[in-house]
Order: sequence, then structure tokens, then C-alpha cells
Amino acid sequence: MVKSQIFNYNQDGFLCWNGQDLRALSAKYDRPIYLYDLNFVKNRVQLYKKSLSTCGGTRQNIFYALKANHYSPILQIFKNEGVGIDVVSGGELELAMKEGFRPEQIIFSGVGKTAQEIKAAINAQIRQINVESSSELKRISSMTKDLNKSIEVVFRLNPDVDVKTHPYIATGFRDNKFGMNVESLPELIQIVSENELLKFKGFSIHIGSQLLELGDFAEALRKLKSIVAQASGLGLKIERLDLGGGLGIDYHSQNIQEESRLLQEYSALIKNEFGDFSGELQFEPGRWLVGHAGVLVAQVQYLKNNGFKDFVILDSGMNHLMRPTLYSAHHSIWPLKSRPTMKTYDFVGPICESGDFLAKARNCSQIQENDIVLIADVGAYGYTMSNSYNLHSLPQQSELPEFLRP
Ligand code: LLP
Repeated sequence: MVKSQIFNYNQDGFLCWNGQDLRALSAKYDRPIYLYDLNFVKNRVQLYKKSLSTCGGTRQNIFYALKANHYSPILQIFKNEGVGIDVVSGGELELAMKEGFRPEQIIFSGVGKTAQEIKAAINAQIRQINVESSSELKRISSMTKDLNKSIEVVFRLNPDVDVKTHPYIATGFRDNKFGMNVESLPELIQIVSENELLKFKGFSIHIGSQLLELGDFAEALRKLKSIVAQASGLGLKIERLDLGGGLGIDYHSQNIQEESRLLQEYSALIKNEFGDFSGELQFEPGRWLVGHAGVLVAQVQYLKNNGFKDFVILDSGMNHLMRPTLYSAHHSIWPLKSRPTMKTYDFVGPICESGDFLAKARNCSQIQENDIVLIADVGAYGYTMSNSYNLHSLPQQSELPEFLRP
């Protein structure tokens, strides 16, 4: 059995998650369902805030990347902790405001903001737009004039570092569509200088997601520091530096201590470059805050042996959790009740594609039909990327304690 710091089996063979006995999950309820441990989120965000409180700048502002998970009770935890929101669409902007985040707690990222989305952001007077191209800056500029309202902007830079993560979620390399190179600076400065409704505040970077090795991040920080020096030389006042999100989590053994160590290292690297920065530092974490806080509960429909291998066919698949199919991502699988014999299975869903799997060749305690299994670490980019392909229903969502109440 895989060692984990958040899952274990009690002496009756029932699965415990963060010390909570899950046997009551076998009762009848709507499945498949994403269950969230809200206490875990609260502890995580408090640790994140504390660890970054000493990394430099006059303030450290956190803007949670809403794309990771938009379950309302989770957003309320962030709101109560004074954390803001990083949105990437008009829909996310609307949700953040509906959840009660104040405009000055909202920043807007993303490469393809439409005129309508920019208009909504300016009208709402959010804190800042992270600009991805000179064309976007021109569009923002003309819209401030149309609306006769100002807006604060930061320029997202592409530091051109070859980030070690899955290529689909690496964003800080010159091959990626994100950010701008330093050569664009004169043109950007020109656009800002011609319109006093555009308020330049600083730079942002976000080099990629699921980073477990911070050498590339350190290199990006060094490059950012040199660009800040260059820009100051050109007469720009840098009041904010937004360092993005990206810190990874351990999907294999949920090693929480190692993750905390990585967070300390992250904070130390920032302090090394920007410890004496006289402006505000900003962060946009997603996965690190919520990844371990969600499980997907599914039920075994059929066991199938085709003479070649054993399949476990679940009522949930790539429609509810795309990460294994899309990124070959590893999610550990935990039967609610463990049995002494071990077997190797492919865990697959009901979708009519061979790419529909949640785990391949996975060694697991023996499964029977109707068993309940939990797919671990789906709190980030799980539900938010689910879809209704084949017209299966979307999964349900619930918080854990309420759900387990008899
Ligand atoms: N800021 C920006 C501008 C981003 O694009 C992202 C994530 C974040 C912050 C938050 O990154 P995090 O701290 O969560 O790594 N669907 C993929 C992940 C895509 C990440 C997209 N951008 C997955 O399931 O792994």
C-alpha cells in the first residue's frame, strides 16, 4: 500500500482522510461527487500567508487563482482570510463579485480578454489588469477613454525559462503564448504615457504550474530583477510585482511536510531577490491551496477481465476528471474499504474513448462491484475542468462534515 500523510486505513479497514473516518460514505447519496475538506483549505491558506509574510516588499497580497476551484464555501474561506481573487474571464469576475470580493481584491489575468470583459473590469474598477500584449494594452487604453474611467495595469513578462513541468502547463518559455519580452517595453511605455487613465503599476510573471523544483523560478526572479532595474532606468515607477502561482503538490504520497519545506524555499528565493523591494509583492496560488482538499467519490459499476488485463469500470471518468487523460497526471485511488489481497487494475470511466481512464496499471487492494472508491487530490482543476461529454451529468459537490452528518 502506498504511504500517504493524509490517507490511511483504520483497524476496521475503512479509509480515513485527514483523520476523518469515511465509512458513512457507503450510505446512499448522489454520485459521483467531489467532497471538500474545508478545514484543510483554511490551514493551507494560513500557512501560505505566514510563510510569505517575511519574503519582502511592504506588503504581500495573495490573489487565489479562481480557475483551480470555484466552490462557494471555499471562496468564503479565502474571503474571511483577507485573500483576493485572480480571475481569467468575465464569468469568473462576475462570480468573484457575487461571492462578495471587493473590486480592489480582484485582479484579471489571461491572454484573450474580450472587449466586453475589459469593459466589465474597468466598470467594476477592479484592482488591476495583468496585460499580456501591446494589442491588449491598446484595447484597454481605448476603452478607458470610451468609459472615461481609469484602470491600473501591470505588464506580464515572459522570462523565457524552460520550466520543468508538463509542457501544457509551462507558461514562462518563449515558445508559450504568455507574457511579453523585454523588447516590448518601449512600445508599452509609449502607450501608457499617451493616456493618463492608464496607470502602470508594475510587472507580473507566472512561469507555470505544478512546479516541484524551483531552479527555473529562481532564474525567472533574477531576470525579473534585472528588468525592474532596466525599467526604473527608463523612468518607470514599479509599485507592484506579481510573482504568479505555480507551487506544486505531491500527488504520489501527499507529503505535506515536504510541501511546506518547498514553500519555505520559495519564500527564501523571493527574499533573496526582492527582500528589500520597496513596493508590494503579489501572489496567485491555486493548486497549493486546494489540491489536497478534494476527493472524487465514484462507484464501481463493473469488473471486467478481457483475458489481457483487469479493468475497474467506474461511474466517473475523463468527463469528471480530465487530468489523467490530458496530462498523464497521477491521482492515487483509495477504495473506501480495504481488502487484504492486492491486484493490478486499469481504472476507467463510462466515456466512449480509450483515453477515458483515471489510473492505469494501478496496484490496489482487491475491488468488488458496487465498491466505493476515492480519487485523491482533485481539489484543484478537478470539478472546474469537468464537462458533460456523452451527456453524462456533471458531478455533485459538497463539503465533507455536513455530508457525513447522519
Ligand atoms: N496565475 C496564472 C496567470 C495562471 O495561469 C495560473 C494557472 C495560476 C496563477 C495558478 O497556478 P497554480 O498555483 O494553480 O499552479 N489544469 C492544469 C493547471 C493549469 C494552470 C493554469 N494556470 C492542471 O490540472 O494541472
